[in-house]
Amino acid sequence: MKISKVVIPVAGWGTRSLPASKNIPKEMLPVFNKPVIQYVVEEALHAGLKDVVFVTSKEKRVIEDHFDYNLQLEDTLARAGKLNLLEQVQAVSEMINIISVRQKQQLGLGHAVLCAKPVCGNEPFGVILGDDMIIGQDAGIVQLIEAARKYNLPAVGVMEVPPEKVSRYGIVSGREIAPGILRIENMVEKPRPEDAPSNLAIVGRYVLTPDIFWHIENSERGHGGEIQLTDALQKLAADGGMLAVKIKGLRFDAGDWAEYLTANIYFALQDESLRDDLLEQLRPLVR
Ligand code: UTP
Repeated sequence: MKISKVVIPVAGWGTRSLPASKNIPKEMLPVFNKPVIQYVVEEALHAGLKDVVFVTSKEKRVIEDHFDYNLQLEDTLARAGKLNLLEQVQAVSEMINIISVRQKQQLGLGHAVLCAKPVCGNEPFGVILGDDMIIGQDAGIVQLIEAARKYNLPAVGVMEVPPEKVSRYGIVSGREIAPGILRIENMVEKPRPEDAPSNLAIVGRYVLTPDIFWHIENSERGHGGEIQLTDALQKLAADGGMLAVKIKGLRFDAGDWAEYLTANIYFALQDESLRDDLLEQLRPLVR
């Protein structure tokens, strides 16, 4: 299975992050010293996916700009002799090939993925949600690509969640065919805890084959005219089979304030020059 592109939907309104996300996309909110989207793009790069298809909207141009040159800034840094910073900003500009498609109406995640149809053509592709960070050695989409290639099947990334959270996710169950890899037998969108077939939740990582587009086009619209991805995933899984890959690593949903703030503290604590000072300042606040 040849996978060269990753689709990153970033066109949502980010209502959970208001008012911070009123004019700054939630994907551009900083986590320590980088915007959320940069962590997501770095995960894609780690999997060898340099062609990035942003599904974007007119409020979100700043996301593409972040991965483009800023010649004025670079000139200023060069003249000031701030070569280390210059190197850092240039590295971001050179990270990826940007391919952008517009989602003109925010009709849900399924619709956002469908917007990438003209650029994905007939090839399988990866999908990573633009506000969903997974951190860890070889974690996230890397694991999915490895499994999808090995079994020649589409795949979703899953993680265990506590029972009280299953109703926020698509939940899957199936037969374990290798350590950490299941062949999906059942997929339910946002079940009540008592109806959930397992506690394995789909977490923002997918390897999809192009027939997903046909299934999305033929999906029924849900609440508010939204086109969900899970309906189409269920059909794709029923048709030819699909894997669920248990994702290693730490996950932070940047649209959830507690997780977003935890991510900031986590990354700041990794920085030796900041760690002691940060801990000292946090201590009196935690009673
Ligand atoms: P979310 O459901 O977390 O994002 O979608 P949202 O709708 O922006 O946020 P809330 O729930 O109102 O706070 C996950 C990812 O999918 C994108 C979002 O930008 C986010 O990165 N998305 C969502 C789209 O691109 N288009 C959509 O129609 C919906």
